Amino acid sequence: MSRADICVPCRLAAIAAVIGCTAAAFAWTAGWLTPKRVDAPHIVNTFESNYGIHAGYRRNHAKGLCVEGEFESNGNGARVSRAAVFAPGETPVIGRFAIPGSNPSTPDASIPVRSMALLFQLKDGEQWRTGMNSAPVFVVRTPNQFYQQLVASKPDPQTGKPDPAKLDAFFGANPETLPFRQWIKAHPPSSSFANTAFWGINAFLATDADGNAHAVRWEMVPQTPYEAESADQKLNPDFLADDLGSRLAQGPLRWHLVLTVAALGDPTNDATQQWPASREQIDAGTLVLRQATPQRSGACRDVNYDPTVLPDGLKPSDDPLLAARSAAYAVSFNRRTHEEAALAHAHGEAQQ
Ligand code: HEM
Repeated sequence: MSRADICVPCRLAAIAAVIGCTAAAFAWTAGWLTPKRVDAPHIVNTFESNYGIHAGYRRNHAKGLCVEGEFESNGNGARVSRAAVFAPGETPVIGRFAIPGSNPSTPDASIPVRSMALLFQLKDGEQWRTGMNSAPVFVVRTPNQFYQQLVASKPDPQTGKPDPAKLDAFFGANPETLPFRQWIKAHPPSSSFANTAFWGINAFLATDADGNAHAVRWEMVPQTPYEAESADQKLNPDFLADDLGSRLAQGPLRWHLVLTVAALGDPTNDATQQWPASREQIDAGTLVLRQATPQRSGACRDVNYDPTVLPDGLKPSDDPLLAARSAAYAVSFNRRTHEEAALAHAHGEAQQ
């Protein structure tokens, strides 16, 4: 059997998985899965009306930079997933570090959360894309709550800041937000992308070589010890990018990819809840990041880190945030890439 023959079933499975996810995302975009029809364009429009349009930038996590490296799998992840990325060996990775928010010039110290997004380029053209945040839980459980929170966060034109009374009313009406708010209060922001742990938060379904399904979540655990953001750093609006550049000039940075395996009954549809600490953890290998580039010119610029793009051996769970993320990221991606093209065109005409 040739290599191409071997790959036909896995290609078909990958295509089926992508079509399945796309269908779910499309249904959500069209508002079919939500009684109040809060759809993806609505959510992205609300980002824009709250924080303005920053042409060519992501509508959320706008400030960031591209990174590149590889994932060194030790083979342990194969216990739960037959995905080729978990077989022993190396997979090239295109990544992006960022902070949440729609403004690409926002000072780093104004945001307590950091993010890491990764695209694993598997052999045979399969991809695994994931977007992770620096907290183990998400603030809301449903896309509708995400939208309501955006509405409640709209900056007051007088102060330029959200109205605390509206935010308090939202949090009061949505007690699911408590674990996230408590976690953020108890964990001061980190001094560096390099010493931050990143969680995939949403649950996924892994399928092993025998066809058994396992609900999993994943985390990137840094080799660099955590330190809190310092008073000096707060004076530099871009300290996270500056810090990363100087650390990478000294050598590569590493994280362990840790899979947490659910026990029967652990919820897979609630990103506001952590699973008990006693759950099995599998150290699946090491992410090695070697270089950073500005996002305007880097390889991550035109990547949509849609978390439902998964290789054979990983599938979305029933978490309602996943289809909503996929649909919203597509709207954001389409708008920003159209703007990029228009900007490039205008720049070309100006030079003629
Ligand atoms: C309904 C829930 C959510 C909505 C509507 C939403 C919306 C968005 C949008 C519009 C973007 C910009 C995408 C682009 O243009 O490429 C984005 C980026 C991002 N989101 Fe979400 N998000 C949601 C939930 C989450 C959750 C649960 C996580 C963490 C697990 C997360 C992590 C990220 C990350 C890491 C990025 C940046 C990706 C990059 O660096 O390109 N989001 N989000």
